[in-house]
Amino acid sequence: MRISVVGTGYVGLVSGVCLASLGHDVICVDKKTEIVNKINNFISPIFEPKLEEMLEKVIKLKKLHATTDISWAVKNSEITIIAVGTPFKDGAIDLSYIKESAKEIGMQLAGKNEYHVVCVKSTVVPGTTDTIVRTAIEEASGKKIGGFGLAMNPEFLREGCAVDDFMMPDRIVIGAFDDQSFHVMAKVYNTVFDDPIIRTNLRTAEMIKYTSNALLANLISFSNDISNICESIGGIDAIEVFKGLIQDKRIVVKTKGEAVFPGLTQYLKPGCGFGGSCFPKDVKALVTHSTAHAYYPKILEAVLAINEQQPSKMVEKLEKLIGDVQNKKIAVLGVAFKPETDDIRESPAIKIIKILLEKGATVFACDPKAINSAAKELESEFLVLTNDYQEVLKDAEGVLLITPWESFIRIKPEEFSRLMKKPVIVDGRRVYDKLEMESHGLIYTGIGI
Ligand code: UGA
Repeated sequence: MRISVVGTGYVGLVSGVCLASLGHDVICVDKKTEIVNKINNFISPIFEPKLEEMLEKVIKLKKLHATTDISWAVKNSEITIIAVGTPFKDGAIDLSYIKESAKEIGMQLAGKNEYHVVCVKSTVVPGTTDTIVRTAIEEASGKKIGGFGLAMNPEFLREGCAVDDFMMPDRIVIGAFDDQSFHVMAKVYNTVFDDPIIRTNLRTAEMIKYTSNALLANLISFSNDISNICESIGGIDAIEVFKGLIQDKRIVVKTKGEAVFPGLTQYLKPGCGFGGSCFPKDVKALVTHSTAHAYYPKILEAVLAINEQQPSKMVEKLEKLIGDVQNKKIAVLGVAFKPETDDIRESPAIKIIKILLEKGATVFACDPKAINSAAKELESEFLVLTNDYQEVLKDAEGVLLITPWESFIRIKPEEFSRLMKKPVIVDGRRVYDKLEMESHGLIYTGIGI
């Protein structure tokens, strides 16, 4: 099928490249010439495993082309996917890019006779596609809905494995205005995937996306709430509590003596908090949107409040062991919001580094991928950003593990002891073995103990 994708961020570019590799003819649209040139020259503007290789392949096969010309893109496609950003601004989701794109697409549809489906892929609060998007297209095109199709097809891509998530989907949700819109959208996927397509109305599709992220964020904050209770009482390791919890036969599946833990249990673990471009923004947007509709969601509000306090707990734990951090060199392992990404948006590490700097520490932070993004966000003569963890640990009086990159998990206790001035570790993701660390003379603590 001929598909145009407006917006080349994580969602737009991954979707565009994957759809092209599935055999569709894709045109990616972005307002920024610099980004468009990069894409056409096989350079991915974002770091995402497997993406750049696939990008080069589909461009060489002439299955994907990037342009700044939305008019050309809409004219030469039968579906336009909206994948522009929906940032959180002034206490609510900012839908201005969505509205603008819908209007621009509508203007192109005015002069187009061929049936065209507009599909929203960006995460938008329930009610957006069938009100704001629909109205903007109708006004700009002069056509009534039905004369064009409308769909909402949320994405469930995790950064760091977005390509695999797209190519091996767990579900395909298509919210459709009518049968014709649905059948066009279903053709995009059902020629290649066996998974059943979940058909809903437009609002339900939007809500499925929010509910999915809200549940995962809930599990993390629930784990941190329980972990904070364990810490307050004392003598309980929250990690052991969760190990015991997930053996419940309603959670674990045991077949022939082998235990299989559902993916959801990965989120049942205490830590220094969730970040990224999705969980914080989506939960906040849902709270605001729901409150505007006269229902105040108490659990989700608590999910955010618990998450907010986790970064400062890391610094408090460090201070308990080494006292005031002022004028001390503190090492921070990890800046990205999670491993396998260069994304630092809402990363707990950024919050923690800011607290340490405010308290007068000299911070050496390390990340394999996110140093450049961090340098744009953090600036201080007391901050060194590097991808060399040994430089970070050397002579440090304490280290905080924030992002569980494999290269950090592999650091041996001997290396911490040899390099650091005072081998004090605060493990924000509970990746190290407490007893092993202590047997090498390290002072070890972490979230949940
Ligand atoms: C998340 C969802 O997992 C995707 O399904 C969804 O499509 C995406 O948001 C989106 O809305 O676009 P992502 O933000 O890439 O994907 O990351 P996750 O791997 O789910 O992790 C989210 C946050 O939770 C990270 O900060 C991670 O460190 C944190 N986390 C994860 C924990 O704090 N504890 C855990 O046990 C697991």
